[in-house]
Amino acid sequence: METKLRQAEALLREHGQEHLLEVLGRASGEQQESLTEQILAIDYRALKEVGTQTEEKRDAELAPIPSLDAEQWSERERESFAEAGWAELKAGRVGVIVVAGGQGSRLGHDGPKGTMDIGLPSGKLLFQIQAERLLNVSARAGRFVPWYIMTSPDNHDVTAAFFREHGYFGYPEEEIYFFQQHTMPAIDHAGRLLLSGPAEINFTASGNGECFSSLARTGALADMKRRGLAWLFYYNVDNALVKMADPAFIGAAVHFGYPVATKVVEKKDAGEKVGMACLKDGRPSIVEYTEFPPSLLEERDAAGRLLFNLGNMSIHLFSLPFIERHADTDVPYHAASKKIVHVDREGRTVTPEKPNAYKLERFIFDFFPLAEGMTVLKVNREEEFAPVKNKEGADSPESARRLLLALHRRWLLAAGVSEEELAGQEPEVSPLVSCDGEGLDAKTVRELLDHG
Ligand code: UTP
Repeated sequence: METKLRQAEALLREHGQEHLLEVLGRASGEQQESLTEQILAIDYRALKEVGTQTEEKRDAELAPIPSLDAEQWSERERESFAEAGWAELKAGRVGVIVVAGGQGSRLGHDGPKGTMDIGLPSGKLLFQIQAERLLNVSARAGRFVPWYIMTSPDNHDVTAAFFREHGYFGYPEEEIYFFQQHTMPAIDHAGRLLLSGPAEINFTASGNGECFSSLARTGALADMKRRGLAWLFYYNVDNALVKMADPAFIGAAVHFGYPVATKVVEKKDAGEKVGMACLKDGRPSIVEYTEFPPSLLEERDAAGRLLFNLGNMSIHLFSLPFIERHADTDVPYHAASKKIVHVDREGRTVTPEKPNAYKLERFIFDFFPLAEGMTVLKVNREEEFAPVKNKEGADSPESARRLLLALHRRWLLAAGVSEEELAGQEPEVSPLVSCDGEGLDAKTVRELLDHG
C-alpha cells in the first residue's frame, strides 16, 4: 500500500494536482486506500489533452452527404427495405441499445430520464413506452430483441430497481442487459481535479461516446457476439417517438452495407441549433452547428433547399464488427463548462451559481468518420422525433406529449375515424396494439375509443 500511496503522490505532483496531496495525506485507513486507487486509475493523458484543446478551429472542408428520403420511397421500396429489416430481426441478428447514462440536468427530473412521466393519458413512462414498442416488434419478429441499457454509476441502481419494480414492463428479464458506462473526473477551469466527498474524486458520466468501450469492458459486447448479433440499433432515452428497431431503417442499412447508419430529420430552418450529418474532410460525420461558418448554414441548392439540412436525431445503427474494431479507439473528450456541485478541501459542499468546472464527454458521433461510409436516412420529424430535454417550452415533456398524441390522432384519422368522433378526445394508442399506426382496423379503433 505504501508503494501505491507514493505512486499516487508522484502522479499528483507530475500532473499539477498538488492541491490533493494534503487531502490524501490527511485521509486515513480505508479512505486513504480508496482515494489512492482513484488517483491511480485516472487517465491523466486524456485530462491533459482537454487542457490543451484550444478554441481555434481548423478550417475543415464541409460538404453535403448523400442521403435517402424515406418519405420519397415508393410503396415497393418501403416494403422491400422493411422486409430486409424484418429478415434480420427474425434471424435474431439485431439488438437495441439505449444510452441512459446522462444526468438530464436541463430537465431537472428527480430520477433517471427514462422514469419520466410526460403526462400521457395512460400515465406510461418513457422506459415503459420503449419496452412496449419492443414487445410489439418482438412479437412480430417471432423472437425477443435483446435490449442493452447503458446507465452510469449515478443512476445504475435506481434504473435497475425501477425496472425490477415494474416487472420489466413485461419484457423478459433475460433479454435485458444493464451495464454501466465509464466516467471521468470533473476538473475546475484551471484543470484541477474536484472532490465529491472528503476522500472521493468527483467522477461524472463521460458521455454517450463511452458506449463502445463500456460495452466491451462490461461483457455486454461478448453477450452480443454470443447471441450472434450483427447490428445494434442505438437511441437516446429521451425521444418519446423513437421507432424501436425500425425494420425499414435496418433494411436500408443492410442494403447499403456501411458499418454506420443514421436517421436524420429535415432542419426547421437555417438557424436551428442541431448537429448535421455531412462530409467533413470527405469523411461521414455529424458536425455541430457551432462548427459551421454562418454563411454555409444559409447556403441553398438550386431547388432553394438548405444545403446542410440533415439534422441529427441520435438514432443510429452500428455493425457489430465496427463496434468491436473501435471499442478501444480513443476519440477525444469534449469539455463542457457546467455547474458542478463538489466538496472543498475542508469537506464543505460547494453549490456553484454559475459554471465552475468542466465535465468531460465523448460523443458517439466522433466514431462516424472512422467508417468508410454511412447510410443516411431522412425521416418525418413529426413521426419520429420528440426529445425531452428541457423542463418546459421546446423539447419538453409537454411538447413530446403533444407530438405523440397528435401522431396517434393522425393514425386514427387514417384508419377511417372522423374528426367528429375524435372531438374532445385525446386517444392514445398502446404500443402493444400498434407502434407505427399499423393494424388499426375498425374493430381495434372502436375498442380504443370506447375504452379511452
Ligand atoms: P444529452 O446530451 O441530452 O444529456 O444526452 P443529458 O444528460 O440527457 O441531459 P443534460 O445535457 O444534462 O440536460 C443524450 C443522450 O446520451 C445519454 C443521455 O442519457 C441521453 O440519452 N448520455 C449522456 C449517456 O448515456 N451518458 C452520458 O454520459 C451522457
